[in-house]
Amino acid sequence: MTTDDHPAAPDSATLDTAAVTAGRSISGASLAPVLHPATTWVVGSVDDHRRDARTPRSTGYYSRYGNPTVHEFEDAVAELEGAECALATASGMAAITAVVLGLCSAGDHVVATRQQFSVSSSFFAAHCPRFGIDVTFVDGTDAGSIAEAAAARPTQLVYAETPANPALSLVDLAALGSITGPFTVVDSTFAGPVVQRPLEHGVDLVVHAATKGLAGHNDALLGVLAGRRDLVEAVWEWHVVAGGQASPFDAWNGIRGLRTLPIRARRQAETALHLARLLEAHPAVARVSYPGLDSHPQRELARRQMATGGTVLAVE
Ligand SMILES: Cc1ncc(COP(=O)(O)O)c(C=O)c1O
Repeated sequence: MTTDDHPAAPDSATLDTAAVTAGRSISGASLAPVLHPATTWVVGSVDDHRRDARTPRSTGYYSRYGNPTVHEFEDAVAELEGAECALATASGMAAITAVVLGLCSAGDHVVATRQQFSVSSSFFAAHCPRFGIDVTFVDGTDAGSIAEAAAARPTQLVYAETPANPALSLVDLAALGSITGPFTVVDSTFAGPVVQRPLEHGVDLVVHAATKGLAGHNDALLGVLAGRRDLVEAVWEWHVVAGGQASPFDAWNGIRGLRTLPIRARRQAETALHLARLLEAHPAVARVSYPGLDSHPQRELARRQMATGGTVLAVE
Protein backbone atom coordinates (compact mmCIF):
# COMPACT_ATOMS: atom_id res chain seq x y z
CA MET A 1 0.00 0.00 0.00
CA THR A 2 1.31 3.45 -0.77
CA THR A 3 0.30 6.61 0.98
CA ASP A 4 -1.36 7.62 -2.35
CA ASP A 5 -4.30 5.48 -1.22
CA HIS A 6 -4.59 7.65 1.86
CA PRO A 7 -5.25 11.33 1.19
CA ALA A 8 -4.76 12.09 4.90
CA ALA A 9 -1.05 11.20 4.81
CA PRO A 10 1.03 13.92 6.49
CA ASP A 11 3.88 15.44 4.47
CA SER A 12 6.42 12.64 4.89
CA ALA A 13 9.51 14.74 4.02
CA THR A 14 8.68 17.23 6.77
CA LEU A 15 7.90 14.48 9.24
CA ASP A 16 11.05 12.48 8.45
CA THR A 17 13.21 15.57 8.92
CA ALA A 18 11.45 16.46 12.17
CA ALA A 19 12.04 12.94 13.51
CA VAL A 20 15.80 13.39 13.27
CA THR A 21 16.05 17.07 14.18
CA ALA A 22 13.35 17.63 16.82
CA GLY A 23 14.13 17.82 20.53
CA ARG A 24 17.66 19.16 20.41
CA SER A 25 17.16 22.44 22.24
CA ILE A 26 19.18 21.53 25.34
CA SER A 27 21.82 19.07 24.10
CA GLY A 28 23.69 21.79 22.19
CA ALA A 29 26.14 20.51 19.57
CA SER A 30 25.87 16.90 20.72
CA LEU A 31 24.15 14.89 18.01
CA ALA A 32 23.14 12.27 20.56
CA PRO A 33 20.79 13.53 23.27
CA VAL A 34 22.57 14.25 26.54
CA LEU A 35 21.31 12.13 29.42
CA HIS A 36 20.62 14.15 32.57
CA PRO A 37 19.93 11.70 35.40
CA ALA A 38 20.04 14.49 38.01
CA THR A 39 17.12 14.90 40.37
CA THR A 40 18.38 18.24 41.73
CA TRP A 41 20.54 21.15 40.56
CA VAL A 42 22.88 23.53 42.31
CA VAL A 43 21.37 26.97 42.70
CA GLY A 44 23.37 30.19 42.56
CA SER A 45 21.29 32.07 45.10
CA VAL A 46 18.13 31.93 47.14
CA ASP A 47 16.54 34.26 44.59
CA ASP A 48 17.40 31.86 41.74
CA HIS A 49 15.94 29.00 43.76
CA ARG A 50 12.75 30.96 44.42
CA ARG A 51 12.45 31.86 40.71
CA ASP A 52 12.94 28.25 39.60
CA ALA A 53 10.43 26.99 42.16
CA ARG A 54 7.86 29.36 40.69
CA THR A 55 8.61 28.66 37.02
CA PRO A 56 6.29 26.00 35.64
CA ARG A 57 8.17 23.05 34.15
CA SER A 58 11.59 24.45 35.02
CA THR A 59 14.29 22.01 33.85
CA GLY A 60 17.06 22.98 36.27
CA TYR A 61 15.35 22.77 39.64
CA TYR A 62 13.98 19.36 40.66
CA SER A 63 13.16 16.57 38.21
CA ARG A 64 9.59 16.05 39.41
CA TYR A 65 8.95 19.54 37.95
CA GLY A 66 10.99 19.10 34.79
CA ASN A 67 14.16 17.46 33.49
CA PRO A 68 16.28 18.47 30.47
CA THR A 69 16.34 15.01 28.83
CA VAL A 70 12.64 14.47 29.43
CA HIS A 71 12.02 17.96 28.07
CA GLU A 72 13.83 17.16 24.81
CA PHE A 73 11.68 14.05 24.37
CA GLU A 74 8.58 16.19 25.01
CA ASP A 75 9.70 18.78 22.46
CA ALA A 76 10.30 16.09 19.86
CA VAL A 77 6.86 14.52 20.34
CA ALA A 78 5.22 17.96 20.25
CA GLU A 79 6.85 18.72 16.91
CA LEU A 80 5.87 15.36 15.42
CA GLU A 81 2.27 15.72 16.61
CA GLY A 82 1.98 19.38 15.54
CA ALA A 83 1.32 20.31 19.19
CA GLU A 84 2.17 23.46 21.13
CA CYS A 85 3.83 21.33 23.78
CA ALA A 86 3.94 17.89 25.35
CA LEU A 87 4.35 16.28 28.75
CA ALA A 88 6.09 12.94 29.26
CA THR A 89 5.00 10.48 31.94
CA ALA A 90 6.22 7.24 33.52
CA SER A 91 3.98 5.07 31.30
CA GLY A 92 1.08 5.30 28.92
CA MET A 93 -1.32 4.73 31.81
CA ALA A 94 0.34 7.58 33.74
CA ALA A 95 -0.42 9.87 30.76
CA ILE A 96 -4.07 8.78 30.55
CA THR A 97 -4.72 9.04 34.29
CA ALA A 98 -2.89 12.40 34.46
CA VAL A 99 -5.10 13.85 31.71
CA VAL A 100 -8.35 12.68 33.29
CA LEU A 101 -7.46 13.41 36.93
CA GLY A 102 -5.76 16.67 35.96
CA LEU A 103 -8.73 18.00 34.00
CA CYS A 104 -11.71 16.44 35.79
CA SER A 105 -13.09 16.75 39.33
CA ALA A 106 -15.74 15.03 41.43
CA GLY A 107 -19.15 15.63 39.83
CA ASP A 108 -17.80 15.83 36.28
CA HIS A 109 -19.11 13.74 33.42
CA VAL A 110 -16.81 11.96 30.95
CA VAL A 111 -17.76 10.20 27.71
CA ALA A 112 -15.42 7.35 26.75
CA THR A 113 -15.42 5.01 23.80
CA ARG A 114 -16.14 1.40 24.76
CA GLN A 115 -13.44 0.01 22.47
CA GLN A 116 -10.21 0.70 24.31
CA PHE A 117 -7.18 -0.88 26.00
CA SER A 118 -8.36 -3.06 28.91
CA VAL A 119 -6.47 -1.16 31.63
CA SER A 120 -7.75 2.22 30.39
CA SER A 121 -11.19 0.70 30.43
CA SER A 122 -10.85 -0.43 34.05
CA PHE A 123 -9.59 3.04 34.97
CA PHE A 124 -12.75 4.62 33.51
CA ALA A 125 -15.17 1.91 34.71
CA ALA A 126 -13.80 1.05 38.15
CA HIS A 127 -11.65 3.96 39.33
CA CYS A 128 -13.14 7.18 37.94
CA PRO A 129 -16.40 6.55 39.85
CA ARG A 130 -14.36 6.27 43.09
CA PHE A 131 -13.32 9.89 42.51
CA GLY A 132 -16.88 10.98 41.73
CA ILE A 133 -16.25 11.15 37.97
CA ASP A 134 -19.19 9.69 36.10
CA VAL A 135 -18.33 7.92 32.85
CA THR A 136 -20.71 7.11 29.99
CA PHE A 137 -19.37 4.48 27.59
CA VAL A 138 -20.36 4.74 23.92
CA ASP A 139 -19.68 2.83 20.72
CA GLY A 140 -16.55 4.47 19.27
CA THR A 141 -17.48 3.46 15.73
CA ASP A 142 -20.66 5.56 15.94
CA ALA A 143 -19.62 9.22 15.75
CA GLY A 144 -23.22 10.31 16.31
CA SER A 145 -23.54 8.48 19.61
CA ILE A 146 -20.30 10.04 20.91
CA ALA A 147 -21.59 13.55 20.11
CA GLU A 148 -25.06 12.77 21.51
CA ALA A 149 -23.67 11.45 24.81
CA ALA A 150 -21.47 14.55 25.13
CA ALA A 151 -24.40 16.87 24.40
CA ALA A 152 -26.93 15.05 26.60
CA ARG A 153 -25.55 16.64 29.78
CA PRO A 154 -22.66 18.92 30.78
CA THR A 155 -19.52 16.98 29.87
CA GLN A 156 -15.96 17.79 30.87
CA LEU A 157 -14.03 15.39 28.65
CA VAL A 158 -14.53 13.02 25.72
CA TYR A 159 -11.98 10.21 25.54
CA ALA A 160 -11.43 7.98 22.51
CA GLU A 161 -8.88 5.42 21.38
CA THR A 162 -8.21 4.93 17.67
CA PRO A 163 -7.26 2.46 16.30
CA ALA A 164 -8.54 0.67 19.37
CA ASN A 165 -6.64 -2.07 21.16
CA PRO A 166 -7.21 -4.96 20.49
CA ALA A 167 -9.74 -5.21 17.66
CA LEU A 168 -8.62 -2.19 15.57
CA SER A 169 -11.94 -0.39 15.30
CA LEU A 170 -11.67 3.33 14.48
CA VAL A 171 -13.10 6.58 15.79
CA ASP A 172 -13.86 9.38 13.32
CA LEU A 173 -11.28 12.03 14.28
CA ALA A 174 -12.89 14.88 12.35
CA ALA A 175 -16.25 14.24 14.01
CA LEU A 176 -14.57 14.03 17.42
CA GLY A 177 -12.60 17.22 16.78
CA SER A 178 -15.78 19.09 15.86
CA ILE A 179 -17.32 18.49 19.30
CA THR A 180 -17.31 21.79 21.15
CA GLY A 181 -17.44 22.23 24.92
CA PRO A 182 -15.75 19.20 26.45
CA PHE A 183 -12.02 18.59 26.09
CA THR A 184 -11.43 15.91 23.48
CA VAL A 185 -8.63 13.40 24.02
CA VAL A 186 -7.38 10.61 21.74
CA ASP A 187 -5.15 7.67 22.61
CA SER A 188 -3.26 7.34 19.32
CA THR A 189 -0.82 4.63 20.50
CA PHE A 190 -1.72 2.16 17.75
CA ALA A 191 -1.10 4.74 15.03
CA GLY A 192 1.44 7.37 16.07
CA PRO A 193 2.12 10.66 14.29
CA VAL A 194 3.42 9.04 11.09
CA VAL A 195 0.03 7.42 10.57
CA GLN A 196 -2.41 9.98 12.00
CA ARG A 197 -2.27 13.33 13.77
CA PRO A 198 -5.43 13.81 15.83
CA LEU A 199 -4.68 17.45 16.68
CA GLU A 200 -4.98 18.37 12.99
CA HIS A 201 -8.61 17.23 13.21
CA GLY A 202 -9.35 19.62 16.06
CA VAL A 203 -8.84 17.18 18.93
CA ASP A 204 -7.46 18.94 22.05
CA LEU A 205 -4.98 16.38 23.37
CA VAL A 206 -3.29 13.27 22.01
CA VAL A 207 -1.88 10.63 24.37
CA HIS A 208 0.49 7.74 23.72
CA ALA A 209 1.87 4.69 25.39
CA ALA A 210 5.30 5.66 24.04
CA THR A 211 6.36 2.31 25.50
CA LYS A 212 5.10 0.91 22.17
CA GLY A 213 5.86 2.31 18.73
CA LEU A 214 7.18 5.78 19.60
CA ALA A 215 10.14 4.51 21.63
CA GLY A 216 10.04 1.28 19.70
CA HIS A 217 12.92 -0.74 21.19
CA ASN A 218 11.27 -2.44 24.20
CA ASP A 219 13.52 -0.58 26.60
CA ALA A 220 11.42 2.40 27.70
CA LEU A 221 8.30 2.43 29.85
CA LEU A 222 7.05 5.83 28.80
CA GLY A 223 3.93 7.87 28.15
CA VAL A 224 3.30 11.26 26.65
CA LEU A 225 0.45 13.71 26.09
CA ALA A 226 0.57 16.60 23.64
CA GLY A 227 -1.64 19.47 22.59
CA ARG A 228 -2.59 23.00 23.61
CA ARG A 229 -0.14 24.60 26.03
CA ASP A 230 -2.81 25.69 28.53
CA LEU A 231 -4.21 22.16 28.78
CA VAL A 232 -0.80 20.49 29.00
CA GLU A 233 0.18 22.94 31.75
CA ALA A 234 -3.07 22.26 33.61
CA VAL A 235 -2.29 18.53 33.51
CA TRP A 236 1.29 19.28 34.60
CA GLU A 237 -0.04 20.98 37.79
CA TRP A 238 -1.60 17.65 38.77
CA HIS A 239 1.35 15.59 37.43
CA VAL A 240 3.74 17.36 39.83
CA VAL A 241 1.49 16.27 42.69
CA ALA A 242 0.77 12.74 41.44
CA GLY A 243 4.46 12.10 40.72
CA GLY A 244 4.21 9.94 37.60
CA GLN A 245 7.32 11.47 35.97
CA ALA A 246 9.12 9.84 33.07
CA SER A 247 12.59 8.60 33.94
CA PRO A 248 15.33 10.54 32.09
CA PHE A 249 16.83 7.26 30.88
CA ASP A 250 13.54 6.11 29.38
CA ALA A 251 13.02 9.53 27.79
CA TRP A 252 16.54 9.29 26.38
CA ASN A 253 15.68 5.88 24.89
CA GLY A 254 12.45 7.47 23.67
CA ILE A 255 14.33 10.17 21.73
CA ARG A 256 16.59 7.52 20.19
CA GLY A 257 13.43 5.66 19.11
CA LEU A 258 11.78 8.74 17.59
CA ARG A 259 14.75 9.24 15.26
CA THR A 260 13.74 6.15 13.26
CA LEU A 261 9.99 6.31 13.85
CA PRO A 262 8.95 7.17 10.25
CA ILE A 263 11.06 4.38 8.76
CA ARG A 264 9.87 1.83 11.31
CA ALA A 265 6.21 2.86 11.11
CA ARG A 266 6.10 2.60 7.32
CA ARG A 267 7.93 -0.73 7.23
CA GLN A 268 5.71 -2.16 9.98
CA ALA A 269 2.63 -1.07 8.03
CA GLU A 270 3.90 -2.86 4.91
CA THR A 271 4.55 -6.02 6.93
CA ALA A 272 1.20 -5.75 8.72
CA LEU A 273 -0.67 -5.43 5.42
CA HIS A 274 1.23 -8.36 3.93
CA LEU A 275 0.50 -10.54 6.97
CA ALA A 276 -3.13 -9.41 7.12
CA ARG A 277 -3.69 -10.46 3.49
CA LEU A 278 -1.98 -13.82 4.00
CA LEU A 279 -3.89 -14.55 7.19
CA GLU A 280 -7.21 -13.44 5.72
CA ALA A 281 -6.82 -16.11 3.03
CA HIS A 282 -5.82 -18.83 5.53
CA PRO A 283 -8.46 -21.51 6.21
CA ALA A 284 -7.64 -21.71 9.95
CA VAL A 285 -8.33 -17.99 10.42
CA ALA A 286 -11.89 -16.82 11.12
CA ARG A 287 -11.31 -13.09 10.86
CA VAL A 288 -8.55 -10.53 10.40
CA SER A 289 -9.02 -6.94 11.45
CA TYR A 290 -6.65 -4.41 9.93
CA PRO A 291 -7.58 -0.86 8.86
CA GLY A 292 -5.54 -1.30 5.66
CA LEU A 293 -7.65 -4.23 4.43
CA ASP A 294 -10.60 -3.60 2.13
CA SER A 295 -12.61 -5.92 4.40
CA HIS A 296 -12.20 -3.57 7.39
CA PRO A 297 -15.70 -2.18 8.10
CA GLN A 298 -14.28 1.35 8.41
CA ARG A 299 -11.86 1.18 5.47
CA GLU A 300 -13.06 4.51 4.03
CA LEU A 301 -12.51 6.25 7.35
CA ALA A 302 -9.02 4.72 7.56
CA ARG A 303 -8.25 6.19 4.11
CA ARG A 304 -9.44 9.61 5.26
CA GLN A 305 -7.56 9.88 8.52
CA MET A 306 -4.63 7.44 8.42
CA ALA A 307 -1.53 7.52 6.21
CA THR A 308 -1.33 3.70 6.23
CA GLY A 309 -3.34 0.89 7.82
CA GLY A 310 -1.10 1.19 10.89
CA THR A 311 1.32 -1.20 12.50
CA VAL A 312 -0.99 -3.59 14.35
CA LEU A 313 -3.46 -6.23 13.16
CA ALA A 314 -5.86 -8.52 15.04
CA VAL A 315 -6.51 -12.16 14.18
CA GLU A 316 -9.26 -14.56 15.33
C1 LIG B 1 -3.64 1.70 23.39
C2 LIG B 1 -2.87 1.66 24.67
N1 LIG B 1 -2.94 2.71 25.51
C3 LIG B 1 -2.27 2.73 26.68
C4 LIG B 1 -1.50 1.66 27.06
C5 LIG B 1 -0.77 1.72 28.38
O1 LIG B 1 0.58 1.92 28.17
P1 LIG B 1 1.68 1.55 29.28
O2 LIG B 1 1.79 0.07 29.30
O3 LIG B 1 2.92 2.25 28.83
O4 LIG B 1 1.17 2.09 30.58
C6 LIG B 1 -1.38 0.55 26.22
C7 LIG B 1 -0.55 -0.60 26.62
O5 LIG B 1 -0.59 -1.66 26.01
C8 LIG B 1 -2.09 0.55 24.99
O6 LIG B 1 -2.02 -0.47 24.14
